[in-house]
Formats: sequence, C-alpha cells, structure tokens
Amino acid sequence: MVILLLALLAAVCPVLALPTIEAKGSKLFTSDGAQFYLKGIAYQLTPDDPLADTSQCKLDSALMKTLGANSIRVYHVEPQLDHDGCMSAFSDAGIYAWIDLGSYTGKNTPLYGGNPQWTKSKYQAYQKVMDTFHDYDNVAGFFVGNEMLTTGPDSKAAPFYKAAARDMKAYRDKKSYRKIPIGYSAADITALRPNLQNYMACGSNSSEALDFYSLNAYSWCGDSSYEQSGYNMLQLNASDYNIPIFMSETGCNLVKPRNFDDQSALFGPDMADSWSGSVVYEWIEETNNYGIVSYGAPADPTATGDGVYEGYTRTGTPTPISPDFENLSSQWATLSPKGVSADAYTPTISPPACPAFTSGMWEMSGNVPLPTIGAKGTDYTTALPSASADGSGTSTSASSAASSTRASSIAVSRRNMESFWPKVGKWTREHPAAWYGLVVAGFFIMGVVVV
Ligand SMILES: *[C@@H]1O[C@H](CO)[C@@H](O)[C@H](O)[C@H]1NC(C)=O
Ligand SMILES: *[C@@H]1O[C@H](CO)[C@@H](O)[C@H](O)[C@H]1NC(C)=O
Ligand SMILES: *[C@@H]1O[C@H](CO)[C@@H](O)[C@H](O)[C@H]1NC(C)=O
Repeated sequence: MVILLLALLAAVCPVLALPTIEAKGSKLFTSDGAQFYLKGIAYQLTPDDPLADTSQCKLDSALMKTLGANSIRVYHVEPQLDHDGCMSAFSDAGIYAWIDLGSYTGKNTPLYGGNPQWTKSKYQAYQKVMDTFHDYDNVAGFFVGNEMLTTGPDSKAAPFYKAAARDMKAYRDKKSYRKIPIGYSAADITALRPNLQNYMACGSNSSEALDFYSLNAYSWCGDSSYEQSGYNMLQLNASDYNIPIFMSETGCNLVKPRNFDDQSALFGPDMADSWSGSVVYEWIEETNNYGIVSYGAPADPTATGDGVYEGYTRTGTPTPISPDFENLSSQWATLSPKGVSADAYTPTISPPACPAFTSGMWEMSGNVPLPTIGAKGTDYTTALPSASADGSGTSTSASSAASSTRASSIAVSRRNMESFWPKVGKWTREHPAAWYGLVVAGFFIMGVVVV
C-alpha cells in the first residue's frame, strides 16, 4: 500500500509542476503573480524533435539548471511523439518551453517558397502541435513563425502570420486550453523593424493581434554598450509597446569569448520595464560556433549514426564550453529584476497605430483585412496597395548566420513509445480533482490500516 502510494505520489509530480505563464498588458506573469523574465537558451540538437528523448532531456535539463536557465526555445517538434518524459525533466529543472508551431524547415509555416499561404493543412498541423503540448504546465508560449519576413516587400506576407495567430488563439480558446501566449519571432531587419513590430500588435481587436512579439537580435558584440549596440533604439521602439516583447535569439559571437554583457542591459534599469528577457542562441556547439556545450570532439563531417550529424556528436553528456558557459551563468546569477506583481499592475498602453505605406519598407496601408484560411497568397497580396518601389531590406549580418541546424532536415522515424507512468501523469494533469480525491482516499485507507 505504502509503495503504491509512493508510486502514485511520484506520478502526481506533474500536478505540482511549475506555475503557468500568462501575458498581461506588456508583461509576462507566472500564475502565482510574479513577473516573468526569460533566461532562455535555444535548444535544437538536430533537425529532429529534441523533446522526445527522455534520457537526453534529463542530462541537458540538469546542466541547464546549473546555468540558471528558466526557458528553452525549440524550433521543431513532432506532435505524434511522446513528450511526457522530456517535459517533466525540464519542469523538474524549473524550465519552461517556448515552441514553434510550424517547422523551421518552412514546411508548415505560412510563408514558404516566397508565396504566403495559410492553408487548412498548415492550420491543422499547428493544431496538432498545440493539442500535444497545451496540457504541459511548463509550456510558456507558441510561435507562429520564425524569421520568415526578411525584406521590406515581405511585409505583404505579415497578415498571414497575424491570421495564423488569430486562428490559433481562437482554436486555443474554443478548445478551452489555457491562455498560452502566441507570438512571432522576427529577424532583426532594419527596413522592416519597427513597422512589423507595430503591425503585429496594432488594431483595436486584440483577438486579431499577437499575444507577444519577439526579436532575434545579434547587434551587441563583445565589449559593446547600450548605445553602440543599438539596443537604445530597440528600447525606444519597445517603451510604448502594449504586448510583451523579448529577445527570441541573442548572443553575437563575433568577439570571443562571449561575455553576454547584453544580458545586463536587458535585465537592467534601461530595458527591464519594457523587455521580458531573452533566449540566448544556442545550447549545442556546431558549425556556426554559437554553442555553450559540446557532446565530444567534432566528428568526421561525413559520419552518420550514433548521434552524429553534420560533423558533431549530438547526444550524451553535455560538457560546458569555457568560458562562455560560465560567463553566461555568472551574468544571469547577478540579474534578477523583480518587476511588478500581476495584482499591482494595470495595463495602460494602447495598441500602436498600424503602419502607413512606405515604399520598400512597409507595403500595406493600415489595418488591412486579414486573410482567411485557404486564401491564395498571390490573390490576397495583389489586392493590397502595391509598391512602385525598388525597396529591398537590409539584413543585419549575424542574424542570418544563426541558422545551421535550420538549413536541412532529416527523416524522422521514431517509435512513439507509450508507457504507463507518463499516461498516469497525463491523466492526473487532466483530472486534478479526481486525482486529489484518490490521494486523500489513499491516505484515509492507509490510516485505517495502521489503526
Ligand atoms: C475580433 O476578431 C475576431 C476574430 O477575427 C472576430 O471574430 C470578432 O468578431 C472581432 N470583434 C469585433 C468587435 O470586431
Ligand atoms: C523607432 O525608433 C526610432 C529611433 O528612435 C524612431 O526614429 C522611429 O520613429 C521609431 N518608430 C516607431 C514606429 O516607433
Ligand atoms: C568571461 O570570461 C573571460 C575569460 O575567462 C573573463 O576574463 C571575463 O571576465 C568573463 N566575463 C564575464 C562577464 O563573466
């Protein structure tokens, strides 16, 4: 009996998991009322789903805990796999997951091959990811896209992302899932920003705007400063922003070793009132040289199998890379802005105006009607005000460098391992009242037996 109870108590752990994350006004909060700042790390070991290998997740989450991380960002998941083991490993380490609903290969995102589409099949693919992940308490947010708009004229595809967010928010609410924030992760493109940022939040109907916005920015390199890095400009454009904003990728590696000094700006008095932290790019060391851990010496670039992919071993025990790992860890250890409590915070900022047409920079006028599911990309975009223009965006150099694992995809064939205890864990999360009833009954019976 006691053993059975202990086993059941072990299974109840998911119920006692982390407080959930919600967006309120321009800030993120935990369900127990504290303001939440991401101390995140981009986590995508291979093109496969990194949240399906429990023992790997246990090894990585344990080291991330010593790093001081509270979030991972995952670019690609496979909804048909079993994620219970990994999600509880990260939860046990106090780590939330921010998950791309699409695929970083572009397959399921609205903009693909230059022709924006928000089709029923893409919508259904997004739904499957949401269905699979919504009931993990440590899922903090979903992205409807990553760095898909990279030039001024690409702005005409922005309504497809806003439509995807609108439809996924409506789906989330229709299914009575909790209000997991839904946002977009933007490349730092001078010509597009800040219009894209404002567009994603604009309009009086919040059902049609994003819940948060995030930026992949690599402009703070080495011994830079708030002014020199241009973070002061990012702050100017964020200070009046009505929804949460954070860095969904950061960590320039042009100067080594990395000191991650931008973290002290993001979490300090200049920015912490407007920004909700950052995700540092990235966990694993690979060709792009952004990693803070390695899984062994570089392998033969042509080798495959045994966890080796594109010249790097990507499984096993992670080893911190010095001094970058320690530098990030010591930065985060000193940075703990308190922010405000949810109760003490009343949002006052209203949505920004929808941007006006500016040739080559923003090629739509105002709050254009969003495309419906199945709308043809070209039909929709030609109906928008057209550019007379030559405009082409200028991309910041380093943001496109952070893409080695995103470039290719390998076939996934993992068996969907179903085991008993994860199912019990899932059941307890779905039926907490019934579960607490069982636990109380168990203790009662035990009491009777002892007496
Ligand atoms: C707000 O947008 C949603 C989703 O498009 C729509 O269903 C609703 O009718 C809109 N509300 C108003 C007041 O226009
Ligand atoms: C963004 O900030 C820049 C620099 O201060 C400013 O020139 C620009 O008007 C701002 N744009 C918006 C839309 O807030
Ligand atoms: C980063 O590491 C270098 C080399 O060990 C060290 O000199 C520097 O102080 C560290 N910086 C931070 C911010 O920890």
